[in-house]
Amino acid sequence: MKIRILGTAAGGGLPQWNCGCAECGCARRTGAARSQDCLAVSGDGRAWYLVNASPDLRSQLLAAPELAPAPGTRDTPLRGVLLTSGELDHTLGLLTLREAARLAVYATAPVRRALHQAFPVGPLLSRYTEADWHTVTPGEPVELAGGLRAEAFALGDKRPRYAADLPGEGEGDRTDWVAGYRFTEEGGAARAVYAPGLADWTPAVERAVAGADVVLLDGTFGTADELAERTGGARRSPGMGHLAVRDSLPHLARRPGPRYLYTHLNNTNPLARPDPPGAAELAAAGAAVAEDGLLIEL
Ligand code: MLT
Ligand code: MN
Ligand code: ZN
Repeated sequence: MKIRILGTAAGGGLPQWNCGCAECGCARRTGAARSQDCLAVSGDGRAWYLVNASPDLRSQLLAAPELAPAPGTRDTPLRGVLLTSGELDHTLGLLTLREAARLAVYATAPVRRALHQAFPVGPLLSRYTEADWHTVTPGEPVELAGGLRAEAFALGDKRPRYAADLPGEGEGDRTDWVAGYRFTEEGGAARAVYAPGLADWTPAVERAVAGADVVLLDGTFGTADELAERTGGARRSPGMGHLAVRDSLPHLARRPGPRYLYTHLNNTNPLARPDPPGAAELAAAGAAVAEDGLLIEL
């Protein structure tokens, strides 16, 4: 299995265009920027799937050599996209893929509904390409090309703000707005977990992480009050569907073994800096901060 980390920042990226905070200033000065959270994964190194489609997708694709088309062709190694949520920072890039001859999109039922009704990227895309939409059900593995298997696990009911008024429908409406994926490969033991949105350390997370080789997880905020302290607002990270790094670290320390990498870092998070304070504390728990462009071979 191969994983190419395409982007590691939360929505807005680093630097964020309208922000002059210490982290964004540092990124502007040093060029140590982060693009918005996105991943590419392959079971055989030939057929690739995106997990999420970030607003920065075009430059992310161009920077990943394995995602280039074969010379002289429009034969892309990209077979489809799996979504962990319907958030704009995870879905705007779907429109960037409109040149594809065809595109498979995998999403949970509520996310699929949101992307056809509230933010109608589904109907829009169908005017440009042949999009095949597949409903992902947590706990039911999806077999993908190249011997890759993806199993979603439910992470909760946090809807994108644009879908706040979409009428609820079905059981998944309470549980499946946000999902993580566990990847395994045919005939192999490699397991990778990707969960950029993690509100809480639940039994489902515990099960997904057990026996994994690498776990990419929610590093949006360093601490629960970080955003409120920076912006003077009242929003705390638990209410925003993001377990702060300080609060997930003890869980990692209890579950040694996997290589833990924090991703989806918000531009308020000091861990997004080049030499972050607190890196030693992360290392002690077997964790580090993910970097744009990192290739993981399992
Ligand atoms: C999130 O990760 O919580 C969302 O992307 C936030 C947002 O864009 O509103
Ligand atoms: Mn986000
Ligand atoms: Zn900033």
